[in-house]
Order: sequence, then structure tokens, then C-alpha cells
Amino acid sequence: MGSYRIAVIRGDGIGPEVVDATIDVLQELQDVVRGLKLTFDFVDAGDLCLKVRGTPLPEDTISAIKKAHAAIKGPVGETAADVIVKLRQMLDLYANIRPFKSYPGVPSIKGNVDFVIVRENTEGLYKRYEFTLDGGATAVALRVITRRGCERIARKAFEYASKRPKKLVTAVHKSNVLSVTCGLFAAVCREVSKEYPDVKYEEMYVDACAYNMVVRPERFDVIVTTNLFGDILSDEAAAVAGSLGIAPAANVGDKHAIFEPVHGSAPDIAGKGVANPCATMLSAKMMLEWLGEARAAKLLENAIAKTLRDKRFLTPDLGGNASTKEFTRAVKKALRNSA
Ligand code: NAI
Ligand code: MG
Repeated sequence: MGSYRIAVIRGDGIGPEVVDATIDVLQELQDVVRGLKLTFDFVDAGDLCLKVRGTPLPEDTISAIKKAHAAIKGPVGETAADVIVKLRQMLDLYANIRPFKSYPGVPSIKGNVDFVIVRENTEGLYKRYEFTLDGGATAVALRVITRRGCERIARKAFEYASKRPKKLVTAVHKSNVLSVTCGLFAAVCREVSKEYPDVKYEEMYVDACAYNMVVRPERFDVIVTTNLFGDILSDEAAAVAGSLGIAPAANVGDKHAIFEPVHGSAPDIAGKGVANPCATMLSAKMMLEWLGEARAAKLLENAIAKTLRDKRFLTPDLGGNASTKEFTRAVKKALRNSA
């Protein structure tokens, strides 16, 4: 059981609401799990930070994240590309792990969703190599796919799948049209699949994947895909599992990791106190797993799952009318009762 320094970006919009709720349950968790000690180092990033400090991602924020054992990040707003896309590249957080699960008590299109999107997080179209030609009349974006990038994300996906009961990796691409870039991604995934004979392997075009995700989501286990496709499929997956409000994510590299919800700053509901904090709480659960605190992670997930199953404290995105604070109080109570 260890002692950890956690850098915390509260973010914009609903960010501070869902991050504060998460810190609140983590404080409770420390009382329940003897020996677990988390120290929070609050740092700035995002739209408000740009306004107040003249930059969306100050140097002291970057160095605090580097010094910390891990970071929790709330969503930021319009500066997302200059904050999180930049941090992913800067800290080489090449894998974005996004589990989607239907929790009992959460209304969803299909009941039995349990799959993970392993999204390449540092290249593809999100390299942001964009420019114009013809005096602005033509806009071009370069899609960068490297063998190294494909290899390491494919390995992450197979490692992940080999620990899951279903043991199936689906590589999602569009190599019938983007034969060079998606062609390389598919070829490398196929090569890496040979190193994992106990994991089944298949490929699917991204449009068919988008369809199958709604029609038969239960068929998926681990989806590995490129940056932009992974971004788009993630929001769809969240809808199929019930809400963006319950979809967590881990940005991991070999040295650093940042845990954040899949969703954005939700300006339409910001300040109303009704944001669902589950996605950020479940991201914190992924952080505890990454830190090697499996028992604390399990206790936290169980408390969240119990509160969802109970249905009395569901936030509006899940069809309830509870506030962020009411949901958070219920999770804390479930944690106390599990001690
Ligand atoms: P969004 O994810 O913020 O919202 C989409 C819809 O989902 C909205 O109706 C919102 O109310 C709902 N929603 C999202 N999270 C929720 C939660 N926890 N509880 C209840 N409902 C929730 O996407 P949108 O509107 O496209 O983006 C808003 C801002 O967020 C933009 O400025 C965008 O750049 C930024 N953004 C930041 C991200 C990050 O920091 N990683 C990721 C995605 C978007
Ligand atoms: Mg997204």
C-alpha cells in the first residue's frame, strides 16, 4: 500500500464539478483503505487558464504532471487540443484505454456491453499537421501512421485482451480506401497478432464497426484503432453503454499517465450541479489500478456500481433527477459501508 502524489487539473465547464466529486470520494477511500495515501497537487490548464494566465498549458502544470505518480484531468473546453492532445504527444501517452460497460441500473440500448477501445493517442490526423494551399482555397491535413506507433498500440491491445475472458482483438480501420495509412496499421496489427496465438484476431472497417456497435455491441471485446476513429467511436460506445457520463479513460505511456473522462466540458449543463461524476470517478479507479492499488480500485468501482444499481441517485443523463452532490454522497456512503 503506497503513498502517491496526484496532479489534478479541474478543467472547464462541468470539469470542476466532476473532479471535486471525485476527490471527495478518493478522500473517503483513503479512510477505508488503510495505508493508501493520496496527496493532490492542483494545477491549471484549459480555457480559464488561458484567460487568466495567458496560456492554456503553463510550464508548471507540465512539470507537476511529470513529477507526480499520476494525474487526474477534468475536461477542458475549446483549448482541448492545446491541452490534452499536446500532453499526450509531449509525455508520449500513446495508448488511450477506454472501457465501456453496461452497469445494472443504467438504462442502455443493449444490456450486455463490455468492451474496451484501445485508441492510438499520439499520431494519425491528430498530429495536427494542417496547412492551406491556393491562398487558403484548399486545406490539407496530413495523416501520420508509423510502424512503431502501430506496433506499440497493437501490443497494448493484445496484452489487454490476453487478460480478458473473451480474448478477441478487432482492428478497426478503412484500408479499402486509405490503403497506405490504414494499410500499414492493418498489416502491423496482423503481424503483432501472430505473437499472441491465444488471442483471436479479426479486422473490421470503421463504418461497419460503427454499425455493429449499436446492433450487436456484445460481440466486441478489445477494439484497437487509430486516433480519430477511436475518438469518434468512443462517444458512440458511451451512448450504447448508457451515457458519456459513465465513460472513463486512461492516457498511458511507459512513464506517465493521465486519467480523464471521455466527455468534454458540457457547457450546456455546466454550473447546474447535475453533471454525472461517474466517468471521472471511474477514471480514478483506472488510476488506482495503474498504481497497483487493485483492492482500492475494486472497492471504488463496487461503490459506484452499487449506487447505480440502487437507482435512487441517478443523474439526469441516466434518467434520474439527482444532483452531482447527491450521487457523490451515495458513493461515499457505499464506500463507508464496505469497510
Ligand atoms: P461534451 O462531451 O462536453 O458534451 C456532449 C453531450 O454530453 C452534452 O449534451 C453534455 O451535456 C453531455 N455530457 C457530457 N458529459 C456529461 C456528464 N458528465 N454528465 C452528464 N452529461 C454529460 O462534448 P461537446 O459539447 O462536443 O464539447 C464541449 C467542450 O468540451 C468543447 O469545447 C470541446 O472542445 C471540449 N472537449 C474536451 C475534451 C477533453 O478535455 N478531453 C474532450 C471532448 C471535448
Ligand atoms: Mg472525444
